[in-house]
Amino acid sequence: MILITGGAGYIGSHTAINFINSGYEIVIFDNLENGHIETVNMLKNLGNIHFIKGDLKNKTDIESVFKQYNIDAVLHFAGYIEVAQSVSNPANYYHNNITGTLNLLDSMTENRVNKLVFSSTCAIYGEPKYIPLDENHPKNPINPYGKTKYMIEQILDDFDNAYGLKSIRLRYFNVVGADSQLRTGEWHEPETHLIPNILKSIFDKNRTFNIYGTDYDTVDGTCIRDYVNVEDLAQAHRLAYLYLMENNTSDCFNLGTEKGSSVKEIFNTVKSVTGEEINVKYLERRAGDAAILLANSSKAKKLLNWSCTHSLNDSIKTAYLWEKSKNFLNKN
Ligand SMILES: NC(=O)c1ccc[n+]([C@@H]2O[C@H](COP(=O)([O-])OP(=O)(O)OC[C@H]3O[C@@H](n4cnc5c(N)ncnc54)[C@H](O)[C@@H]3O)[C@@H](O)[C@H]2O)c1
Repeated sequence: MILITGGAGYIGSHTAINFINSGYEIVIFDNLENGHIETVNMLKNLGNIHFIKGDLKNKTDIESVFKQYNIDAVLHFAGYIEVAQSVSNPANYYHNNITGTLNLLDSMTENRVNKLVFSSTCAIYGEPKYIPLDENHPKNPINPYGKTKYMIEQILDDFDNAYGLKSIRLRYFNVVGADSQLRTGEWHEPETHLIPNILKSIFDKNRTFNIYGTDYDTVDGTCIRDYVNVEDLAQAHRLAYLYLMENNTSDCFNLGTEKGSSVKEIFNTVKSVTGEEINVKYLERRAGDAAILLANSSKAKKLLNWSCTHSLNDSIKTAYLWEKSKNFLNKN
């Protein structure tokens, strides 16, 4: 049985669907602070799913899961994810991401569960020294969110050395899109990610989207990012899980498309894919945005046999349809 922490959230729920489709029995553990009960109920209709509402910050909540179920491996998504919030309230981020993860790891070692797939991020690299970023790029996270993820990766090294807990750390770039059957999608409140925010502006009264900074050293002056589809990411988790079970070794992998898109390009693609009219307002740069973040994912291709099957247009299309249905639900 697989335990998915944060399975009521965006990436966790897509990954749960992927595992359900392959016949796995799953326990979802989530405090529903940022996840959604509607998502849990949808997953329960798809297969053999157990749901425990609990908080990783309470050791007894997570301990009881290992007592109740025979867990073989853990996919660990649960955590806070917003860079700006992590800067204004770092204590919350360290408590939730670090203490929560330590409680999980302690429960795992106490119950002799020694396989973990962890949601890491390209934010651990900080300001790029070279592009594209490979896994050996120096790690110098520039905000508390990225620091929590890098600290957890270091904790995982120590838990491997001392207790033989093997982990795969998946370092995602910018995750986009929704389930192709629109059963789940990106549902963050507040939303800080680019594509859902452009899409949200379609449903606002003044239909205006703000672009921050047009003077970066890039083709059109706006920031360039690497957008990876969420269903492709879910598939990477299953391949990573299989790799871990087969090789019993710890490792890390970048997950991106290796293709960059500028904010202006994304904005124009959203307009053309959706056929919607959206106004744009250009504002000053925000602090802390690197000009270009681009993945070198050749290691995941080679060792996990992972490849991206969705185009950016596919991702934008499903994200749009999901946003539309979510907007409809919110208004009814
Ligand atoms: N979305 C991205 O673009 C992106 C990029 C890189 C890395 N990540 C990482 O991927 C993971 C999932 O991201 P997401 O976008 O699905 O976020 P999300 O907020 O949609 O999902 C996280 C889930 O964890 C749950 N959670 C948080 N703290 C918890 C706690 N203490 N106990 C129990 N449940 C808790 C939330 O309720 C939520 O359902 C995160 O760890 C994030 O840092 C996301």
